[in-house]
Amino acid sequence: MQTQHKIIIANSQKMPEIEDSTIYLMITSPPYPMIKMWDTQFAAINPKISKLWQKLEAEGEEETVTQIYDAMHETLASTWRETHRVLADGGIACINIGDATRTVNGKFRLFPNHSRVIEHCEKTGFTTLPYILWKKPTTKPKYKGKGAFLGSGFLPPNAYVTLDCEFILIFRKGKLRQFPPNDPQRYESAFTKQQRDEWFTQIWNVIGTRQTTSQLERRTAAYPEEIANRLIRMFSVKGDTILDPFLGSGTTTKLAMQNNRNSVGYEEDKTLLPLLKKLQHEPAASNLTITKR
Ligand SMILES: C[S@@+](CC[C@H](N)C(=O)[O-])C[C@H]1O[C@@H](n2cnc3c(N)ncnc32)[C@H](O)[C@@H]1O
Repeated sequence: MQTQHKIIIANSQKMPEIEDSTIYLMITSPPYPMIKMWDTQFAAINPKISKLWQKLEAEGEEETVTQIYDAMHETLASTWRETHRVLADGGIACINIGDATRTVNGKFRLFPNHSRVIEHCEKTGFTTLPYILWKKPTTKPKYKGKGAFLGSGFLPPNAYVTLDCEFILIFRKGKLRQFPPNDPQRYESAFTKQQRDEWFTQIWNVIGTRQTTSQLERRTAAYPEEIANRLIRMFSVKGDTILDPFLGSGTTTKLAMQNNRNSVGYEEDKTLLPLLKKLQHEPAASNLTITKR
């Protein structure tokens, strides 16, 4: 099956290249609010965030921390609203997001990103569906600066639980998607009983980072191909178009190609172009275009 793949180097807070109600599946992993590696990008996209960090540094007021966190989620919410516009009735949005722990303004705390994303998506008009917990085998409780255990040896009560799960939140726009009886594309897209039993459980044990990733790839915090593969197979049929508004290294595009789906991806950071151009060498990549807005 010939499929079409578009990568647009642009900010996905606006996606004028996509018409209303034309996409059936969005899968993505955005930059995670309050995770240090994304601070600079949030501040560049939303200058209000940059000013708030300066204010926090100067005045040290607790409410400024909340304002920074809110502003980061408002920045992502523009993309959730745009996703809602381009999804067709019955379309699904899957958002991989991790919570953040961080000491800010001298205080260690949790920033529960998954709950903020749910709130924003519900406000946008999405219906929340049961979500998946991606259990990453890479983080184990450790001790004395050698890992994630944040406490003093074996003494209660001031230790913290290690965050070793990320969320894959699932939302629907509108009513259930309808198909004509015996629709061939739907039947051709069927999964096996074994796949159904494994994929439709709430906890996924999927290996975190690929061993072969380059430094540039690591900078995108790519999700494993298996995550994109499962979500595409679970929530779309062959011939659908998959949207990823935070494309990174292009994992979603690659797996859409492999699964006979079309794709559209947005990536704001043009320094990732060398990585994205590599997708042209994928076996199914004959119809890939990369454009800058
Ligand atoms: C967590 S990474 C995505 C990783 C991706 N799932 C992969 O497998 O490579 C998030 C990406 O979103 C991009 N990004 C952040 N804000 C954006 C925006 N407003 N529009 C488009 N891309 C954005 C970042 O540059 C980064 O590459």
